[in-house]
Amino acid sequence: MFLLPVSWSFFLLLLVDVSLASPTAKASIQARASITALTSAQIAAYKPYTYYASTAYCAPSTTINWSCGSNCEANPSFVPVASGGDGDGTQYWFVGYDATLKSVIVSHQGTDTSEILSVITDIEFSQKAIDTTLFTGVSSSVKVHTGFEDEQAKTASAVLSAVKTTMSAHSTTTITTVGHSLGAAISLLDALYLSIQIPSATTNFIGYGLPRVGNQAFADLMDSKFPNLAHINNKEDMVPIVPGELLGYVHPSGEKHILDNSTWVACPGQDNDSTECSTGDVPTIFNGDIDDHIGPYDGVSMGC
Ligand SMILES: *[C@@H]1O[C@H](CO)[C@@H](O)[C@H](O)[C@H]1NC(C)=O
Ligand SMILES: *[C@@H]1O[C@H](CO)[C@@H](O)[C@H](O)[C@H]1NC(C)=O
Ligand SMILES: *[C@@H]1O[C@H](CO)[C@@H](O)[C@H](O)[C@H]1NC(C)=O
Repeated sequence: MFLLPVSWSFFLLLLVDVSLASPTAKASIQARASITALTSAQIAAYKPYTYYASTAYCAPSTTINWSCGSNCEANPSFVPVASGGDGDGTQYWFVGYDATLKSVIVSHQGTDTSEILSVITDIEFSQKAIDTTLFTGVSSSVKVHTGFEDEQAKTASAVLSAVKTTMSAHSTTTITTVGHSLGAAISLLDALYLSIQIPSATTNFIGYGLPRVGNQAFADLMDSKFPNLAHINNKEDMVPIVPGELLGYVHPSGEKHILDNSTWVACPGQDNDSTECSTGDVPTIFNGDIDDHIGPYDGVSMGC
């Protein structure tokens, strides 16, 4: 554990959440499904995507020829198509084809926990209507975190072009976007962006330690477009509970929560407040454990 260089606004945000935290009306709109444990086969099926999320922490010079070491070796059938970013102003990213999954893979690099908390609580943490230049036709009621949208916009056209190249080279119409932390937020927006720009494709998102990215209309839109979306949260990681619900942020459905005994459970609905799911298990970041952010996710800790 170490002290986080989090900003003032972040603590302000927390205090608001603490003082106003109470059961809300949203419970009534949650799905009436039960919280169920995943089988070991279901957990294992996520493993290649977990490695792809982790691989985005590797430098582009090593993902472009798949020479990044153990992360790359974990997915030996991958064919890289494009890599980019500088890991500073622009997070690393890569695009290519997995011949076993028969899917285009898009992955974006995340950040360490203290950095993601600063990004989230930056002056730019306010929501704005989604940019309809990139997200053509999306309603102006759909609002997203300004900082996350800015990050996604930096690589949007390069990623789109690489995805189109990969689709035609490998005759596939399946796209999976993955990522951890900030990388998950970027890839969640990429999933929406790619599904709009390439409507003939079947797109899905699998993310790890995903912060909240947008408002209720955004979460509802994601639920309607991506029924198989999955965001996997490890134990008491606090990143998935920020920015706070009281600031108008809502997760799409599809949470998988790793319990303290390493059981994975599927949490129905958006922000299920059961203590078996992140929102209920980590009511404020004071209940969180920063060390849980990087994993392990079924044995995989994020990083190159
Ligand atoms: C959470 O999941 C349970 C199933 O165990 C469900 O009954 C409940 O409505 C869901 N939503 C909330 C907000 O807890
Ligand atoms: C991959 O590219 C890097 C940087 O260009 C180079 O140093 C390395 O030898 C290459 N590795 C393989 C396996 O091609
Ligand atoms: C793990 O913990 C959950 C919640 O406390 C419990 O329901 C489940 O039975 C436990 N599973 C194992 C394998 O211990």
